[in-house]
Amino acid sequence: MGDLLRLLEASGWTGAPRYLGVDDEGREILSYLEGHVAWEPRQPAAVSSEESLVTVARLVREFHDLTAGTSLAGDQEVVCHNDLSPKNTVYQLCGGELRPAAFIDWDLAAPGARIHDIAHVCWQYLNLGPSVADVEEAARRMRLIVDSYELSDRQCLVSTILWWQDRCWRGIESQADAGDVAMARLRDAGVVRHVRTAYRWVSDHRAALERSVR
Ligand SMILES: Nc1ncnc2c1ncn2[C@@H]1O[C@H](COP(=O)(O)OP(=O)(O)O)[C@@H](O)[C@H]1O
Ligand SMILES: [Mg+2]
Repeated sequence: MGDLLRLLEASGWTGAPRYLGVDDEGREILSYLEGHVAWEPRQPAAVSSEESLVTVARLVREFHDLTAGTSLAGDQEVVCHNDLSPKNTVYQLCGGELRPAAFIDWDLAAPGARIHDIAHVCWQYLNLGPSVADVEEAARRMRLIVDSYELSDRQCLVSTILWWQDRCWRGIESQADAGDVAMARLRDAGVVRHVRTAYRWVSDHRAALERSVR
């Protein structure tokens, strides 16, 4: 993570914390980013506004482009964050409105494909699942995200969302079974059930979602 944050800092990109080194116990030290982190279920409307979705997509495009072709991306397109969500986004006031300004929690960052992060963004920022009131509206907002990112190859977007959801609940379940306490707690809190239900919802509305991004 240190190498990635240093690369982003060297490019003058402000969408990530600064890497400040390691403490005596070997823990990485990062700069603190001032702002609102959208970790609670209820959020101000500005967090899910179209302007905020466009800004998220552009921020992702920026750090992807900065990592493309570097050694950190290995043989992959870019370095992916792999956990982009409102919970890992710092919102700051911009023209009087909360807007995404930076991403935190880069622990899972790894070489990957652009579409992986964008599929995760669609899932998490649109909260794709049974709580979506209007499928066509969600589909339109998904289109807004991929257009703002200027994603060129979109055919696999919905299948990649399903891949993430499937991977997520299976990962929690298998690690909980293997004795991981944090994962067992997530499972007991109903997260596996919640993500499986979201998977089913995306699967059921696949045609409408795919139509919108073609
Ligand atoms: N660099 C930072 N600047 C400001 N707040 C941060 C920063 N890093 C973490 N936080 C706060 O701590 C919370 C948990 O950090 P995070 O890195 O997302 O860990 P977790 O793996 O627990 O999700 C975040 O939701 C945010 O509120
Ligand atoms: Mg986090």
